[in-house]
Amino acid sequence: MGSVHVLEHPLIQHKLSIIRDVNTGPKEFRELVGEIATLMAYEVTKDLPLEEVEVETPIAKAKAKVISGKKIAIVPILRAGLVMADGIMKLIPAAKMGHIGLYRDPDSLKPVEYYCKLPADIGEREMILVDPMLATGGSAAAAIDFVKQRGTKHIKLVCLIAAPEGIALVQKEHPDVDIYVAAVDECLNSHGYIIPGLGDAGDRLFGTK
Ligand code: PRP
Ligand code: URA
Repeated sequence: MGSVHVLEHPLIQHKLSIIRDVNTGPKEFRELVGEIATLMAYEVTKDLPLEEVEVETPIAKAKAKVISGKKIAIVPILRAGLVMADGIMKLIPAAKMGHIGLYRDPDSLKPVEYYCKLPADIGEREMILVDPMLATGGSAAAAIDFVKQRGTKHIKLVCLIAAPEGIALVQKEHPDVDIYVAAVDECLNSHGYIIPGLGDAGDRLFGTK
Protein backbone atom coordinates (compact mmCIF):
# COMPACT_ATOMS: atom_id res chain seq x y z
CA MET A 1 0.00 0.00 0.00
CA GLY A 2 1.20 3.54 -0.77
CA SER A 3 2.36 5.54 2.21
CA VAL A 4 0.87 8.77 3.47
CA HIS A 5 3.34 11.52 4.34
CA VAL A 6 1.93 14.31 6.51
CA LEU A 7 4.29 17.27 6.18
CA GLU A 8 4.45 18.84 9.61
CA HIS A 9 6.99 21.59 8.90
CA PRO A 10 6.04 24.68 10.97
CA LEU A 11 6.03 26.99 7.93
CA ILE A 12 3.63 24.67 6.10
CA GLN A 13 1.36 24.36 9.13
CA HIS A 14 1.37 28.12 9.81
CA LYS A 15 0.48 29.02 6.23
CA LEU A 16 -2.17 26.29 6.10
CA SER A 17 -3.89 27.81 9.16
CA ILE A 18 -4.11 31.17 7.37
CA ILE A 19 -5.71 29.70 4.24
CA ARG A 20 -8.24 27.78 6.33
CA ASP A 21 -9.48 31.13 7.72
CA VAL A 22 -12.71 32.21 6.04
CA ASN A 23 -11.49 35.85 6.21
CA THR A 24 -8.44 35.21 3.98
CA GLY A 25 -9.18 36.72 0.54
CA PRO A 26 -8.27 35.30 -2.89
CA LYS A 27 -4.99 37.25 -3.34
CA GLU A 28 -3.47 36.10 -0.06
CA PHE A 29 -5.03 32.65 -0.46
CA ARG A 30 -3.37 32.18 -3.89
CA GLU A 31 0.01 33.43 -2.70
CA LEU A 32 -0.03 31.12 0.31
CA VAL A 33 -1.16 28.05 -1.67
CA GLY A 34 1.80 28.61 -4.01
CA GLU A 35 4.20 29.04 -1.07
CA ILE A 36 2.93 25.91 0.69
CA ALA A 37 3.31 23.91 -2.52
CA THR A 38 6.92 25.13 -2.89
CA LEU A 39 7.65 24.04 0.68
CA MET A 40 5.96 20.68 0.08
CA ALA A 41 8.02 20.16 -3.10
CA TYR A 42 11.16 20.23 -0.96
CA GLU A 43 9.89 17.16 0.96
CA VAL A 44 8.32 15.41 -2.03
CA THR A 45 11.60 15.47 -3.96
CA LYS A 46 13.91 14.41 -1.17
CA ASP A 47 14.40 10.90 -2.63
CA LEU A 48 15.57 12.14 -6.05
CA PRO A 49 18.78 10.33 -7.03
CA LEU A 50 22.03 12.29 -7.24
CA GLU A 51 25.16 11.74 -9.31
CA GLU A 52 28.65 13.05 -8.87
CA VAL A 53 30.07 15.62 -11.28
CA GLU A 54 33.22 17.68 -11.35
CA VAL A 55 32.96 21.48 -11.31
CA GLU A 56 35.66 24.07 -11.33
CA THR A 57 35.36 26.62 -8.54
CA PRO A 58 37.39 29.85 -8.66
CA ILE A 59 39.90 28.02 -6.42
CA ALA A 60 40.10 24.36 -7.53
CA LYS A 61 38.31 21.42 -9.09
CA ALA A 62 35.58 20.01 -6.84
CA LYS A 63 33.50 16.86 -6.80
CA ALA A 64 29.87 17.97 -6.54
CA LYS A 65 26.40 16.40 -6.77
CA VAL A 66 23.58 17.07 -9.21
CA ILE A 67 20.18 15.44 -9.70
CA SER A 68 20.83 12.50 -11.98
CA GLY A 69 18.77 13.44 -15.01
CA LYS A 70 15.50 12.13 -13.57
CA LYS A 71 12.67 13.46 -15.68
CA ILE A 72 9.71 14.93 -13.83
CA ALA A 73 6.21 15.92 -14.91
CA ILE A 74 4.10 18.17 -12.72
CA VAL A 75 0.42 17.64 -13.41
CA PRO A 76 -2.27 19.81 -11.79
CA ILE A 77 -5.87 18.66 -11.70
CA LEU A 78 -7.75 21.67 -13.09
CA ARG A 79 -8.55 24.01 -11.99
CA ALA A 80 -7.61 24.17 -8.32
CA GLY A 81 -4.28 22.38 -8.82
CA LEU A 82 -2.88 25.16 -11.08
CA VAL A 83 -1.54 27.41 -8.34
CA MET A 84 0.09 24.51 -6.51
CA ALA A 85 1.76 23.40 -9.75
CA ASP A 86 3.29 26.86 -10.20
CA GLY A 87 4.61 26.71 -6.64
CA ILE A 88 6.30 23.36 -7.30
CA MET A 89 7.70 24.52 -10.67
CA LYS A 90 9.61 27.25 -8.81
CA LEU A 91 11.83 24.54 -7.32
CA ILE A 92 11.91 22.28 -10.41
CA PRO A 93 11.92 24.68 -13.37
CA ALA A 94 13.14 22.02 -15.81
CA ALA A 95 10.08 19.84 -15.21
CA LYS A 96 7.41 19.56 -17.89
CA MET A 97 3.80 20.34 -17.02
CA GLY A 98 0.72 18.35 -18.04
CA HIS A 99 -2.91 19.20 -17.29
CA ILE A 100 -5.94 17.12 -16.40
CA GLY A 101 -9.35 18.77 -16.45
CA LEU A 102 -11.82 17.21 -14.03
CA TYR A 103 -14.72 18.57 -12.09
CA ARG A 104 -16.82 16.89 -9.49
CA ASP A 105 -20.48 16.65 -10.44
CA PRO A 106 -22.22 18.45 -7.57
CA ASP A 107 -25.08 15.91 -7.39
CA SER A 108 -23.37 12.55 -7.92
CA LEU A 109 -19.96 13.77 -6.57
CA LYS A 110 -18.46 11.68 -9.40
CA PRO A 111 -15.55 13.15 -11.42
CA VAL A 112 -16.19 14.28 -15.01
CA GLU A 113 -13.14 14.55 -17.32
CA TYR A 114 -13.01 17.46 -19.79
CA TYR A 115 -9.31 17.82 -20.68
CA CYS A 116 -6.06 15.86 -20.66
CA LYS A 117 -2.74 16.96 -22.15
CA LEU A 118 0.48 15.34 -20.96
CA PRO A 119 4.14 15.55 -22.06
CA ALA A 120 4.75 13.17 -25.01
CA ASP A 121 7.36 11.15 -23.09
CA ILE A 122 5.15 10.74 -20.02
CA GLY A 123 6.05 7.03 -19.67
CA GLU A 124 9.65 8.01 -18.84
CA ARG A 125 8.76 10.66 -16.28
CA GLU A 126 8.03 10.56 -12.58
CA MET A 127 4.73 12.37 -12.10
CA ILE A 128 3.85 14.78 -9.31
CA LEU A 129 0.06 15.02 -9.48
CA VAL A 130 -1.35 18.01 -7.57
CA ASP A 131 -4.75 19.01 -6.27
CA PRO A 132 -5.35 20.98 -3.06
CA MET A 133 -8.27 18.85 -1.85
CA LEU A 134 -8.54 15.05 -1.53
CA ALA A 135 -12.17 14.70 -0.42
CA THR A 136 -14.04 11.56 -1.56
CA GLY A 137 -10.88 10.75 -3.57
CA GLY A 138 -12.97 10.27 -6.72
CA SER A 139 -11.19 13.02 -8.69
CA ALA A 140 -7.68 11.92 -7.72
CA ALA A 141 -8.42 8.22 -8.34
CA ALA A 142 -9.89 9.03 -11.78
CA ALA A 143 -6.96 11.31 -12.65
CA ILE A 144 -4.52 8.54 -11.71
CA ASP A 145 -6.50 6.12 -13.92
CA PHE A 146 -6.21 8.54 -16.87
CA VAL A 147 -2.48 9.10 -16.52
CA LYS A 148 -1.79 5.38 -16.05
CA GLN A 149 -3.80 4.62 -19.22
CA ARG A 150 -1.49 7.09 -20.99
CA GLY A 151 1.62 5.29 -19.79
CA THR A 152 2.61 6.93 -16.50
CA LYS A 153 4.32 4.48 -14.13
CA HIS A 154 5.57 6.46 -11.15
CA ILE A 155 3.13 8.83 -9.46
CA LYS A 156 3.20 10.91 -6.27
CA LEU A 157 -0.03 12.62 -5.27
CA VAL A 158 0.40 15.97 -3.48
CA CYS A 159 -2.58 17.62 -1.76
CA LEU A 160 -2.97 20.29 0.90
CA ILE A 161 -5.81 18.73 2.88
CA ALA A 162 -7.13 15.17 2.74
CA ALA A 163 -10.14 13.45 4.27
CA PRO A 164 -9.60 9.90 5.55
CA GLU A 165 -12.19 8.74 2.97
CA GLY A 166 -10.13 10.14 0.08
CA ILE A 167 -6.90 8.60 1.34
CA ALA A 168 -8.62 5.22 1.72
CA LEU A 169 -10.01 5.31 -1.85
CA VAL A 170 -6.68 6.21 -3.45
CA GLN A 171 -4.86 3.59 -1.38
CA LYS A 172 -7.44 0.95 -2.39
CA GLU A 173 -7.51 1.77 -6.13
CA HIS A 174 -3.87 2.81 -6.53
CA PRO A 175 -1.72 1.10 -3.88
CA ASP A 176 1.44 2.05 -5.80
CA VAL A 177 0.90 5.81 -5.29
CA ASP A 178 2.42 7.66 -2.33
CA ILE A 179 0.36 10.54 -0.94
CA TYR A 180 1.82 13.78 0.46
CA VAL A 181 -0.45 16.09 2.45
CA ALA A 182 -0.15 19.03 4.83
CA ALA A 183 -3.10 17.81 6.94
CA VAL A 184 -5.52 14.93 7.33
CA ASP A 185 -8.87 16.34 8.51
CA GLU A 186 -11.83 14.71 10.28
CA CYS A 187 -14.36 13.63 7.64
CA LEU A 188 -16.70 14.81 4.87
CA ASN A 189 -20.03 16.60 5.21
CA SER A 190 -23.14 15.51 3.29
CA HIS A 191 -22.06 17.65 0.27
CA GLY A 192 -18.66 15.99 0.12
CA TYR A 193 -16.78 18.95 1.63
CA ILE A 194 -13.91 18.31 3.99
CA ILE A 195 -14.56 19.13 7.67
CA PRO A 196 -13.08 21.49 8.77
CA GLY A 197 -11.12 21.87 5.48
CA LEU A 198 -10.95 25.29 3.86
CA GLY A 199 -14.14 25.36 1.78
CA ASP A 200 -14.12 25.20 -2.03
CA ALA A 201 -10.48 25.50 -3.06
CA GLY A 202 -11.20 26.51 -6.68
CA ASP A 203 -13.65 29.23 -5.67
CA ARG A 204 -11.32 30.61 -3.01
CA LEU A 205 -8.34 30.62 -5.40
CA PHE A 206 -10.13 32.30 -8.27
CA GLY A 207 -12.81 34.31 -6.46
CA THR A 208 -15.68 32.62 -8.27
CA LYS A 209 -18.12 32.61 -5.36
C1 PRP B 1 -12.30 20.02 -6.13
C2 PRP B 1 -10.85 19.74 -5.77
C3 PRP B 1 -10.67 18.33 -6.27
C4 PRP B 1 -12.02 17.72 -5.99
C5 PRP B 1 -11.90 16.89 -4.73
O1 PRP B 1 -12.42 20.34 -7.47
O2 PRP B 1 -9.96 20.67 -6.35
O3 PRP B 1 -10.36 18.24 -7.63
O4 PRP B 1 -12.94 18.79 -5.79
O5 PRP B 1 -13.07 16.22 -4.49
P1 PRP B 1 -13.16 14.62 -4.52
O6 PRP B 1 -11.95 14.10 -3.81
O7 PRP B 1 -14.43 14.34 -3.79
O8 PRP B 1 -13.20 14.19 -5.95
P2 PRP B 1 -13.82 20.73 -8.12
O9 PRP B 1 -14.54 19.53 -8.60
O10 PRP B 1 -14.56 21.63 -7.19
O11 PRP B 1 -13.39 21.50 -9.45
P3 PRP B 1 -12.61 22.89 -9.65
O12 PRP B 1 -11.15 22.61 -9.37
O13 PRP B 1 -12.83 23.18 -11.08
O14 PRP B 1 -13.18 23.91 -8.71
N1 URA C 1 -13.44 20.22 -3.06
C1 URA C 1 -13.07 21.35 -2.42
O1 URA C 1 -12.66 22.33 -3.05
N2 URA C 1 -13.19 21.38 -1.08
C2 URA C 1 -13.63 20.34 -0.37
O2 URA C 1 -13.71 20.42 0.87
C3 URA C 1 -14.02 19.17 -1.05
C4 URA C 1 -13.89 19.13 -2.41
